[in-house]
Amino acid sequence: MQRHYNYLVLGSGIAGLTFALKVASKGSVAILTKKNRAESNTNYAQGGIACVTGADDSFQLHVRDTLDAGAGLCKESVVRETVEEAPERIQELIQMGVDFSRAQEGYDLGKEGGHSRRRILHAKDMTGKEIEQALLANIAKHPNITIFENSVAIDLITMRKLGYCTQNRCLGVYALNKISREVEVFSSDHLLLATGGCGQVYQHTTNPDIATGDGVAMAYRAGVSIANMEFIQFHPTCLYHPQAQSFLISEAVRGEGGVLIDAQGNPFMERYHLLKSLAPRDIVARAIDAEMKKTGASCVYLDIRFKGEEFIKNRFPQIFATCQKYGIDITKEPIPVVPAAHYQCGGVITDLNGQTSLPGLWAAGEVACTGLHGANRLASNSLLEAIVVSHRASQAIQKEPITQNTIELPAWQHGNSQDPDELVVVNHMEQEIKLLMWNYVGIVRSNKRLYRASSRLRMIAQEVQEYYWTNRVSPKIIDIRNLSMVASLIVDCAISRQESRGLHYTLDYPEADISKAGVDTLLQLP
Ligand code: FAD
Ligand code: SIN
Repeated sequence: MQRHYNYLVLGSGIAGLTFALKVASKGSVAILTKKNRAESNTNYAQGGIACVTGADDSFQLHVRDTLDAGAGLCKESVVRETVEEAPERIQELIQMGVDFSRAQEGYDLGKEGGHSRRRILHAKDMTGKEIEQALLANIAKHPNITIFENSVAIDLITMRKLGYCTQNRCLGVYALNKISREVEVFSSDHLLLATGGCGQVYQHTTNPDIATGDGVAMAYRAGVSIANMEFIQFHPTCLYHPQAQSFLISEAVRGEGGVLIDAQGNPFMERYHLLKSLAPRDIVARAIDAEMKKTGASCVYLDIRFKGEEFIKNRFPQIFATCQKYGIDITKEPIPVVPAAHYQCGGVITDLNGQTSLPGLWAAGEVACTGLHGANRLASNSLLEAIVVSHRASQAIQKEPITQNTIELPAWQHGNSQDPDELVVVNHMEQEIKLLMWNYVGIVRSNKRLYRASSRLRMIAQEVQEYYWTNRVSPKIIDIRNLSMVASLIVDCAISRQESRGLHYTLDYPEADISKAGVDTLLQLP
């Protein structure tokens, strides 16, 4: 059975939900989402959303901080427009019910690495949950929007794939219903990719399980242009505890004065940057990596004790409670932390309206590469980018000539064998990808390690393809197929960037090459 919607949205994080709410008055909307509707990177965002509101702040300063972090690769016009549009989009979030934390006068503004002013609006340390819940509450009231939970998009359907030679357009998607195990066909006039990032490609990540790079992988397979996948941001401070799965210790803790120290209690960031513990994220992550390698320690520590119990419990209730659950009282002891993969700065190339190189296909949020983040994202700029691009995409679509997709799409064909022994092999492949990405394509890279990763990934990709085409499709194999594809894209981009810039640091070319400022790493299937 083929279902048709005017607007098909893949993903129920901030980008997908914002877009859905904005187009719903113009036509029917379906949102497909991998697990339950709230499960997304958005839901775990802690620090907040950057927006100029303070009396001592200006658009110019926010633009400058974003460009400085981006290390010569941001598109300045994109940065300027995003920063200037922020107050209007934030106002809409507030109208939809997002309750940002307040100070005695106005909002309580947080600070994070690379920001020269306090400009982060937050809901204590649970900003993402607050935004996700408010957007979902508004979605629930809208009769034109249907959410399909446990519906995993597998591949985009394009005219080219159906054999049309002279035109190409995105027509819809095949999606696995995780409950019925059937593959369903969704067709659309416009499709928005809002599938988020790919942190799960690494062994250690702050991202939840849904972040397997599906959007980038699907777009690449459909011949859409991709850029800058080498720029993976590692967050410096993920809780280090055997039972804590990927729990972030927000940069806002350092914004409030938290200091990074070694096991002996000595601060070490002054040896790496003038801004010490609040230096840009790439520098802090590399410094921690260097300290751990030098001393053989398994982690470093973040000390916020001096702020006192009342402040800590009020400003960081989630971090306090989670650490306490693991036996760490952060009002009395420093927090053990390690870096972990956090954010994908590259992705599907779009303009600020979310338009991709394929007609009918739009992208917004972490899956997209608009040029805002360049070689290193400034903290708390991603939630902002998602609302700006989703808003603009909804506007730009209205200006397009009306396209009604009436093409009948073929049903899904798949292999039917199910060999339980093979599943062990597939799980092993997943572990292998994550480990080799962590060990060879991590915070500090080298040609030797990148080439080693590349050749092993080629073999894994072949094994995954064999399994994929002969077995009945499953959520696991969809994830692994995409993880293996995205891992290869990261490695290919990293190999071709023969310099160190922003988040991409390689021992073979330790300096930035000025001739490569403003030069993106582009990938597209012929
Ligand atoms: P997501 O919120 O990740 O949503 C992706 C959606 O796509 C999910 O619903 C998922 O189920 C769905 N999906 C994925 N693949 C498929 C598929 N194949 N089929 C169907 N659905 C699919 N940024 C900030 O600006 N400020 C912060 O304070 C901040 N803190 C963060 C803290 C953590 C722990 C993490 C992990 C990230 C943080 N970030 C922060 C980054 C920010 O949260 C994300 O970049 C942003 O939320 C991405 O939004 P999105 O809508 O693009 O994707
Ligand atoms: C954090 O709270 O440290 C995450 C902020 C971000 O990734 O933008």
